[in-house]
Amino acid sequence: MIDGREQDKRKVLRVTLVADSPEHKSELKNALSGVAEPLLEVLDGGPPQGEAGAPATPADVALVAFNGNEAASLEYLRQQAAQSPRPVVFAVLQERSAGLMKRVIRAGADELFFSPLDTGELTGALLKISEARWRAEHAQGGTIISTVSLSGGCGVTSLCVNLGLAFRRSLDKRVALVDLDLQAGALPVMLNLEPETSILPLTHAERKFDSLLIESVLTRHPSGLYVLAAPKRIEESESVSEATVGATLDVMREMFDFVIVDCGDHISETTVAAWERSEHLFYVLEQSVTSVRAAWRFLDLFERLSLSLLEPRFIVNRCASGHAIDEKRLEETLGREIFAALPRDDRMMERVELEGRDLFELAGTSPLARSYEALARRISPVPEARQTASGGFIARLFSTFGGRS
Ligand SMILES: Nc1ncnc2c1ncn2[C@@H]1O[C@H](COP(=O)(O)OP(=O)(O)OP(=O)(O)O)[C@@H](O)[C@H]1O
Ligand SMILES: [Mg+2]
Repeated sequence: MIDGREQDKRKVLRVTLVADSPEHKSELKNALSGVAEPLLEVLDGGPPQGEAGAPATPADVALVAFNGNEAASLEYLRQQAAQSPRPVVFAVLQERSAGLMKRVIRAGADELFFSPLDTGELTGALLKISEARWRAEHAQGGTIISTVSLSGGCGVTSLCVNLGLAFRRSLDKRVALVDLDLQAGALPVMLNLEPETSILPLTHAERKFDSLLIESVLTRHPSGLYVLAAPKRIEESESVSEATVGATLDVMREMFDFVIVDCGDHISETTVAAWERSEHLFYVLEQSVTSVRAAWRFLDLFERLSLSLLEPRFIVNRCASGHAIDEKRLEETLGREIFAALPRDDRMMERVELEGRDLFELAGTSPLARSYEALARRISPVPEARQTASGGFIARLFSTFGGRS
């Protein structure tokens, strides 16, 4: 058991200050003294002297002032970037010159700040890091994938079911689906299941959530995939709280390789509780103006939620080649990459519904099944953020704090 003090200690971020002169160092120190959260342990990293300036155990963050010897500071950044594990490097520049910014980024800086330092900006960047560490520490076990769309009928439930089946049937993973589209409750129907139980008993469970309790409310599909169904009656969905969803997902992550959550087509506290725990969030859209508009509305709202470590990915469903709204156009309009496109196959989806057999049983080698399988392979076995560990900021956070295997 971790007592309160130990917990606090784990939340402390170690920040090394690196600057040429004592004045510049005290400028950094002063800015950090205004940061109320996260808790910081500030270390003196000396001047930027490469090896000599690097501590034996790298700090979580190195705050490097560029105000004197640029060459030495750049070299310091390069050496920090080559370490494993490495600190997240914040460079503090005196001037907003594009040339300098490029050199600093190329040398390995993760974030740029400008003097005089803004405590608010610094707080935001440090909170991102402490959040990432918290998530990396707590995320032992499987990967949680949330799916959503603000335009109904786009294929959110189909994505959950078929991605889940692809993980299960093609990659032999332990998979569970969670129906958080609480009012529709359509997920088991698509799998031809009639669940006898649902998430409802968890809402008034008095005991601690553990795998035995969760297992008692799951329904098994013949493929070996499990489903946590929505309550039978619409009015019962009201009693499912964000705390129930959070605690349920925390335990399910330990039981399964992949937990896929159907968040339906509206956003609530319960869906946000799932997103806070997700490694991936897939937004499903179609090749239509209304669907793109809805995606825009979603992006606007998502940005205001400030879930800094989760980047929504866009998946086009029922994608038809030759359509006026092609992938390139969607990407231009949204300003986001289309992560995957799933082909339209009305006949196959109709057969799935009518025959009560799943897509992989019926046509495991069809283009539609293959596109779900390709998506599953792209996400498995490690979250994408870690596959590109040498690349982006988030990837570096994962490599800094040690990822999950
Ligand atoms: N790639 C596809 N090609 C053809 N039909 C599809 C495809 N994907 C889904 N469908 C069909 O579209 C319909 C709607 O799909 P689905 O129920 O998955 O959407 P949804 O976004 O979950 O809808 P809702 O908003 O009602 O929850 C279903 O009948 C499904 O069979
Ligand atoms: Mg649905």
